[in-house]
Amino acid sequence: MKEGQPQAIELKNYQVPPYLIDSTELHVEINEDVTRVTTTLQVRKNPDSTAMVTDLVLNGAVELVNKSITINDRELLSNEFGRDQDLLTLYAVPESFTLRTQVDIKPQDNTALEGLYKSGDMFCTQCEAEGFRNITWFLDRPDVMSKYRTTINADKRRYPILLSNGNDIARGEEGERHWVTWEDPFMKPAYLFALVAGDLQHVDDTFVTMSGRAVKLQIFTEAHNIDKVDYAMLALKNAMRWDEQAYGREYDLDIFMIVAVESFNMGAMENKGLNIFNTSCVLARPDTTTDQGYQRVESVVGHEYFHNWSGNRVTCRDWFQLSLKEGFTVLRDQQFSATMGSPTVCRINDVATLRGAQFPEDAGPMAHPIRPDTYIEINNFYTATVYEKGAEVVGMIQTLLGPDQFRRGTDLYFDRHDGQAVTTEEFVKAMEDATQVDLTQFRRWYSQAGTPVLKIQSHFDSAEQTYTLSVTQSCPPTPGQTQKLPFHLPLAIGLLDQAGADMPLTLMDNEAVQTPQVANVQDEAGSHTVVLNLTEARQHFVFTNISEKPVPSLLRGFSAPVKLNYDYSRDELMFLMSHDSNGFNRWDAAQRLAVDVIQEVVEQIQQGRTPQVDPRLIKACESNLDQAVARHTDLTLDKAMIAEMLVLPAETYLAELFTVADVDAIHAAREAVRLAIATQLAGVLLAVYKLNQDDRPFDVSASEVARRSLKNVALAYLMVPENTEMVPLCVAQFESANCMTDTSAAIRALVNSASPLALQAKEKALTTFYGRWQDEALVIDQWFSLQASCPLPGALDRVKALMQHSAFTMLNPNRLRSVIVAFAFQNNVNFHAKNGEGYGFLADTVIALNSINPLVAARILSPLTRWRKYDEQRQTLMRQHLQRILDTENLSKDVFEVVSKSL
Ligand code: BES
Ligand code: ZN
Repeated sequence: MKEGQPQAIELKNYQVPPYLIDSTELHVEINEDVTRVTTTLQVRKNPDSTAMVTDLVLNGAVELVNKSITINDRELLSNEFGRDQDLLTLYAVPESFTLRTQVDIKPQDNTALEGLYKSGDMFCTQCEAEGFRNITWFLDRPDVMSKYRTTINADKRRYPILLSNGNDIARGEEGERHWVTWEDPFMKPAYLFALVAGDLQHVDDTFVTMSGRAVKLQIFTEAHNIDKVDYAMLALKNAMRWDEQAYGREYDLDIFMIVAVESFNMGAMENKGLNIFNTSCVLARPDTTTDQGYQRVESVVGHEYFHNWSGNRVTCRDWFQLSLKEGFTVLRDQQFSATMGSPTVCRINDVATLRGAQFPEDAGPMAHPIRPDTYIEINNFYTATVYEKGAEVVGMIQTLLGPDQFRRGTDLYFDRHDGQAVTTEEFVKAMEDATQVDLTQFRRWYSQAGTPVLKIQSHFDSAEQTYTLSVTQSCPPTPGQTQKLPFHLPLAIGLLDQAGADMPLTLMDNEAVQTPQVANVQDEAGSHTVVLNLTEARQHFVFTNISEKPVPSLLRGFSAPVKLNYDYSRDELMFLMSHDSNGFNRWDAAQRLAVDVIQEVVEQIQQGRTPQVDPRLIKACESNLDQAVARHTDLTLDKAMIAEMLVLPAETYLAELFTVADVDAIHAAREAVRLAIATQLAGVLLAVYKLNQDDRPFDVSASEVARRSLKNVALAYLMVPENTEMVPLCVAQFESANCMTDTSAAIRALVNSASPLALQAKEKALTTFYGRWQDEALVIDQWFSLQASCPLPGALDRVKALMQHSAFTMLNPNRLRSVIVAFAFQNNVNFHAKNGEGYGFLADTVIALNSINPLVAARILSPLTRWRKYDEQRQTLMRQHLQRILDTENLSKDVFEVVSKSL
């Protein structure tokens, strides 16, 4: 960094804004060379501010070219204002006045994709968190809320569609050009502003709200994508209905628009009345989109829609409160997806994400509480912690309160704070006020970082007929926080008798038990779950009338985001896998068993011994597969669950479980276990594959998604052995598949196969696939990604070749991620090659991207920041490359913060 180091912003220094902006009128005149933005603001001193200031300091960007500044229609003289880079100071302003500024900007040169930019031929905006200041001078902070009126003026032929927030109230034409004026009746912070200009098609629909109002729904895309929006429209209507039913929240404007754009840093954005989506999160068509892709569309459409209340009507006071809207909204979209599909499978995937992404973050150099207390660049805090752990924290409140009380709490929260910019404290307070439950200790989840560890021991006293669980909790130190206080958390548990049934539970000390209405836990028939209130570092829970030694089912439904240590025997895990009345815990038992077995194989490999895979794991997989055969036509059999149980834990998750992660041994061990399952269960795997191979017309119903996932898990196993005879079967699936889920599973299995027979087939499949899909950007992203994530040797060379491909570009985040994320996040063995080439490559990419798109550059660099997890040689190499990044000139704040904090 040349001009001094960037400053950290601290929560404790928060002050209310010294000025308010009651209304904002924007005139955006779009041209190919420059776009002129004329902004008229009604400004007044904030009566709540005690700051003794008469200067108004506005946020902007170095790229803003000033054309005019007037106060109450009088042009300011050069001594009446000062400009320093991205700040504009107006000296000695009146108490209340009209400010008009005029700037020129060049959206076509904006590669950072923040503010107004071009995605292909269309103009669009991304203003969260601080993009609005790239468009015009403003008080760009979420507690400055204003009423917007926006006029867009552009060439009629190139940009027939002109959109902004709210309702269109006027339009007109002037020769080659036309204009539209939009007015948003709701006050909003600048980060929710949006504008789009382009040659777009749209699909329209209507939703009638619970009070009987008709809302016009529109999804806009470029012409070639308009055939892929039907599923998003369906998801939108489902989401609108769900929010009415689950949270009593009705939509408020007469129109709701979604625009799909190809170049977008994130997944999607909840701008008031005008959501802007990455094409990857809105487009879906059977032949181009996998089942996972469909699920992503449903959850992102839901998520952004739900922000209309949790984020827009009630917004954040400052960016430290980000989890107020994001954590809560992630919980809401998870609940929505759970009601639309299989709740248990949804929970499994959510927990897998938490463990795979958030736990490592909480254990690394960027660890922060869900409400951080300091940041340099807010873009770096859209993290798994703020999002996924934030969702778990609100979910725990729901579990502690029970669903009905929780709903009373959210009703009070929305009601009390409608139209306000608030804090997480105000959210918790509303929960307390509505229910009289004391959440004082619970608040530590907002301020303490790190993943708590629960150690549980059990003791059965046959004479007394009691069963005691002794629970200790601790939390490892994180940057800036060496000592932690105990958390208040809900520990959902059940006890299984020897026949596998849940025992009815009575606690000796009743007070610790909560109502067994467990929101997040999803109990099945016959279960007797209780929720224990954990509050102390060490606690005992004594159950009475226990006549036989039970097997405990702990942390049912993952009732708290913690690591659980309990010394299960492998036999107990197998028992839980087949009997636990909690579906999530059946899966978790399978995961624990697999982890245990893989860890043992890691040790064997490290000691130079031949891997011996515990036959019990094979047996467990076999009994799942046998079930799938025996109950093939039984509609109550959840094939998705069976598929989930057969998938081994990811290498990234396994790495987390070791103090020093031996990447090569972990990879070899996981492969050895996969090979053992594949060879020993080849017969039943093939039977399951064949029973579930089907060519009825494509359908995204839960049962069809489940069928395909089970079939494709079987296919992946069948293709594992180097001498597999299944290559023709895989090729046949590739050639005859009627949906992208099946195409993609087949080509992935071919590409990942080490079989000499697959060599030719994979080249051919890759060529065919490319030729067939070259005009579908999202499919070509998959083509790049499946090659870059292939764990076979030589990946880095393949990745470098892919980056020379004519279809590769660093300017489109989806394309960039399809190669870089696939390699650095999903291809552990190759990225961590001992010679450090993978690290060097990622560092080079980050340095190149730093000046193009800092937000994405900082995000892709995170695998390097985990250097403490690896052996000394790798540590040294990783740090060298981090240092090399840090020494780069003109380093962005985004990249600087991540690198400097991790060194
Ligand atoms: N508000 C965010 C989008 C955003 C994130 C804007 C970071 C600016 C910076 C949006 O609501 C969001 O969270 N989107 C997620 C997807 C969602 C389903 C979790 C995303 O973009 O990944
Ligand atoms: Zn969000």
